[in-house]
Amino acid sequence: MCGIVGYIGSKNSADVVLHGLKKLEYRGYDSAGIAVVNESGDLDIRHAVGKILFLEDNLRDAPLNGFLGIGHTRWATHGEPCLKNAHPQVDCTSSIAVVHNGIIENYLELKENLLSKGHIFKSDTDTEVIAHLVEDYQKTYKDTFTSFLKALNDLRGVFAIALINSKEPDKIFAARQFAPLILGRGDGENFLASDIPAILKYTKSVYIMKDGEVAVISRNEINIFDMVGNMIKPNFFEVKWNEEDAEKGGFDHFMLKEISEQPLVVQETIGQRVFFENEFEPYKEELPKDIVRGISRICFVACGTSYHAALIGKFLMEYLADMPCEVDYSSEFRYRNAAVNNSVLTIAISQSGETADTLAAMREAKKRGSYVLAITNRLGSTANREADFSILTRAGLEIGVAATKTFTSQLVTLYILALYMGSCKRSISKKILDETLSYLLEVPKRLEEYFPKFLNDIEKSAKIYSGYKNMIFMGRGINYPVALEGALKLKEISYIHAEGYPAGEMKHGPIALLDPTTPVLAIATRSAVTYEKVLSNIEEAKSRRSRVVALISEGDKDAVNLVNDILYVPDVPEIVSPIYNVVPLQLFAYYAAVWLSRDPDKPRNLAKSVTVE
Ligand code: F6R
Repeated sequence: MCGIVGYIGSKNSADVVLHGLKKLEYRGYDSAGIAVVNESGDLDIRHAVGKILFLEDNLRDAPLNGFLGIGHTRWATHGEPCLKNAHPQVDCTSSIAVVHNGIIENYLELKENLLSKGHIFKSDTDTEVIAHLVEDYQKTYKDTFTSFLKALNDLRGVFAIALINSKEPDKIFAARQFAPLILGRGDGENFLASDIPAILKYTKSVYIMKDGEVAVISRNEINIFDMVGNMIKPNFFEVKWNEEDAEKGGFDHFMLKEISEQPLVVQETIGQRVFFENEFEPYKEELPKDIVRGISRICFVACGTSYHAALIGKFLMEYLADMPCEVDYSSEFRYRNAAVNNSVLTIAISQSGETADTLAAMREAKKRGSYVLAITNRLGSTANREADFSILTRAGLEIGVAATKTFTSQLVTLYILALYMGSCKRSISKKILDETLSYLLEVPKRLEEYFPKFLNDIEKSAKIYSGYKNMIFMGRGINYPVALEGALKLKEISYIHAEGYPAGEMKHGPIALLDPTTPVLAIATRSAVTYEKVLSNIEEAKSRRSRVVALISEGDKDAVNLVNDILYVPDVPEIVSPIYNVVPLQLFAYYAAVWLSRDPDKPRNLAKSVTVE
């Protein structure tokens, strides 16, 4: 978690770093800070608790000037969010400043050793030890680079670090170990950041640092080394996004923009992949057919929204590829004795490709001999690089903390993957394959038409239900994970307590919660098997005097008479209904949050990529 930025060049570094931090605020916003080396050659630092807006206010009152600077936006791990724990953290002499994303696992041990040598600590953070360690090594090694390398070799844990030393004011030192860090190359200026949008305004020439790499960045050059100081040649590449991609594009919030982008995202993710003449082989490059043929079981690992995509993936793999399948939370998988081996394909789903638990689950699966396929939205992310096989979703940048369009792109990828695996294994009929593909191809257009037609109804319902403190979501079959996802979206951005259940489970306990203060959102869209059963579950909720809002297929004649409020969705075949059904639930959560004056883009306590355990 946390975002870091660094700049060296001829511009005012605080301006560049502040701009970058704003682009990274999705990574955490408990506190923020910037350190520069000023014209007198001293470190000058500003901190603020809370959003970057407050840091910006401080800078307006007391500007920073200098051509070398680093900054940080924090998602607290060690030490409560307060001024003394905000980064940059400094050493005893106040000449070394450090920003850090990650966790130093052995910081207590290092801190005790440094305390015994007379170092005085001012914060509760693990980060502060890095500044003191470098200071300590400088007593022996003098130059910052060697001292930085020595310090890095003492650290255990996860880190992306940037460090400046006012005694060597022409360099930024940086290192990456299991947390994202990118470098940007400019003309007489250079950059570093946790993520590409932070520097896009200034350069498109980017290098994604690898674990175990150290960078020394000056105005005119960037040198990369391994942790013992051997030089490495970096391969910079040109980023294709422009800055506007990372902006709101006229919408009130990124989340609304990203929800609205879903027709395009589905289109992009399907791309040219589904057109075929003889054999259907959309992922033959990413996941060779002979590998698929050797697999007898799939094990999905994922967290949060990606976990819900995996639950739908299980349904698809069983239905379309006749493939035995299980789904695990990454955080559970990594610590249990998972029975996976080389006949199992572990599929890790992670939009960021940096979720610590999912990376650990991937590593555990690999250790046990399983093949690992990563489905991620980020090229160059750790999951993308570490997996044996990798499929990229095509959602583009997602800035809103709540996953929306990345979820849809994961779903579409899973449909295509299940069809591909079914074809490779010859376990799917041509009829089902062709039918499912034709349903998928219709999605972009039908979703596009959906928004202008139903946005107002959803907003009105969201207003009504934003008045409740608790809410139950229920669905069945392939739409049970959609109910889970709807509840997660609502709770994470509106802070209304919401839980999702398989509708058939209500009578085994959760029904005790139902009364006029606890409404129900039921997914009652067309289904050959479960539609009538969901209607019975709605009746049960009504008889406990719960208000009921339901997702109902356009043209429905039965469910409409049972419920208080209706959210229509296109009447589509059940197999593809999750892609459609999740959209009104995302919008419902969005409008509920807006009615309650919550910021849907930056829900409290959350961050976009969870790079700590
Ligand atoms: C919810 C949300 C989170 C993420 C989860 C996994 O809206 O975004 O639940 O889905 O933290 O993140 P990734 O997919 O990056 O591994």
